[in-house]
Amino acid sequence: MATVRKLVAGNWKMNGLSDQIVEAVKVAESLAQTPAGVRVAICPPNILVHRIAERLARTVVEVGAQDLHCEAAGAFTGDTSGEMLRDAGARLVIIGHSERRSHHREDDAAVSAKVGAALRAGLEPIVCVGESLEERRSGQALQVVESQLAGSLPDSLDGRSFVIAYEPVWAIGTGLTPTLAEIEEVHRAIRRVLVARFSNGAARPILYGGSVKASNAAEILNAAEVGGALVGGASLKATDFLPIVRAGG
Ligand code: 13P
Repeated sequence: MATVRKLVAGNWKMNGLSDQIVEAVKVAESLAQTPAGVRVAICPPNILVHRIAERLARTVVEVGAQDLHCEAAGAFTGDTSGEMLRDAGARLVIIGHSERRSHHREDDAAVSAKVGAALRAGLEPIVCVGESLEERRSGQALQVVESQLAGSLPDSLDGRSFVIAYEPVWAIGTGLTPTLAEIEEVHRAIRRVLVARFSNGAARPILYGGSVKASNAAEILNAAEVGGALVGGASLKATDFLPIVRAGG
């Protein structure tokens, strides 16, 4: 496998008012003193992207968004385009998170259109896939993930920077994690799909997400084909997030 710098990204989800900005600043200040050798990103709610991007400019911490609309502009009340997020300072965007797939009924086609929109806007997409507990128990995890990848990744990704995040739905916010062997099995399957479809498929990071915390980060981040982590709850406080970042270095 080609060596790629690991990416540890924090997904704040719908958490954080103005007083949460200081946590992002603390992460950046700590990493300035101790370079971790990993790529680090924080994805706050879209409303905080601009203010955090301004505070993190000229630091090693990148800012990402959590979703975007597939059009650049228009009559889409309440939506935010990739171009707007990029203009606000985002460099990455999470797309197809299971919470969007379930609460907003986003299917693979919608995710694929959003990935195309992210590329058009100059944002690096973090495309999420992952099976439900029922699908895992019935032995369909690989099949579900492969099918999500087939439908969610447009051909236009070829040669572009993008990230895949494997997030088993049942591991999100539950404290449960798959075994390392289960994580590696899915990550290897994702790698096979990427290599078969994209000229740069061997070099794109595949993140694991779902109940990553300081105590399990090192073993997960060192597992085969794991190129980083997408961290939810444990990314909200710098004191929880920084040990995870350092575990990737
Ligand atoms: P938790 O780390 O809170 O389980 O959330 C994972 C996740 O959904 C990140 O996108």
